[in-house]
Amino acid sequence: MKNPENYFQSRRTVRRFSGREVPPALVESILERAVKAPTCGNMQLYTVIVTREPARREALAAAHFNQPAAADAPVLLTVCADFNRFTRWCALRGADAGFDNFLSFTSAVADATALTQQIATIAEMEGLGTCWLGTVTFNAPAISKLLRLPELVVPVGALALGWPAEEGEETERLPMQAVVAQEEYPEWSDGEVLRLFKSKEEYAPNMGYVKENGKDNLAQVFAEVRYPRSMNESLSEVFLKYLAEQGFLPEACAAEQK
Ligand SMILES: Cc1cc2nc3c(=O)[nH]c(=O)nc-3n(C[C@H](O)[C@H](O)[C@H](O)COP(=O)(O)O)c2cc1C
Repeated sequence: MKNPENYFQSRRTVRRFSGREVPPALVESILERAVKAPTCGNMQLYTVIVTREPARREALAAAHFNQPAAADAPVLLTVCADFNRFTRWCALRGADAGFDNFLSFTSAVADATALTQQIATIAEMEGLGTCWLGTVTFNAPAISKLLRLPELVVPVGALALGWPAEEGEETERLPMQAVVAQEEYPEWSDGEVLRLFKSKEEYAPNMGYVKENGKDNLAQVFAEVRYPRSMNESLSEVFLKYLAEQGFLPEACAAEQK
């Protein structure tokens, strides 16, 4: 295990993996420790699906748009927000379960997200490399079909996992004052907001992205190239429709999504 002091200071996302096998027993041990993460009401509103079998991995990587980490990793983990198991248990025990709604979805997302990061932290401390795959929600319906997810189960976290074949890129963070407030939300002036992003804008790799994309500044790269409005809106529509199909939206809302 890595020394926590060094680990937290130096951790990086890894997107290239060696061919070395990740023993199933190691993954099992990581998952056994990770489920000690806090969980809403101790209901454990998640299911982790481990994908190792090459043909399934290939299909799943394709659903992640074959982004390098997904295509390269020997193990893919999909963490689903899951109220199915709990609801079935309630039904079998004659309890009137009311978890087919958006609030319950957010509880399950919190559980699944906390678990995903707990898995990543433990895996990285064991020397493995990990990469979150945000495409899990971008393409949730296709991933859901591949993994045969039933009602009240939605994939919300995904990790590519393997032995690192690279160190990972160094990344910058905003100054602490940008992300931590004392007692109340700060009222930043426009000038102060620009100052909070100054070091990010001046970080050499970020200046490179601005140039590569022919943009004037980094904000434009984020808002117009990486995560453009049109993409956000169309993927939101797909995701809302899928949430309705999975039973997490109230009827009126679900009817609107049809
Ligand atoms: C919700 C979430 C989604 C992410 N999705 C992706 C992804 O789809 N592909 C990828 O290569 N990295 C992804 N990442 C990793 C981030 O790009 C990475 O954490 C960030 O650039 C900071 O780099 P670092 O983790 O090396 O510090 C994601 C991270 C999070 C938390």
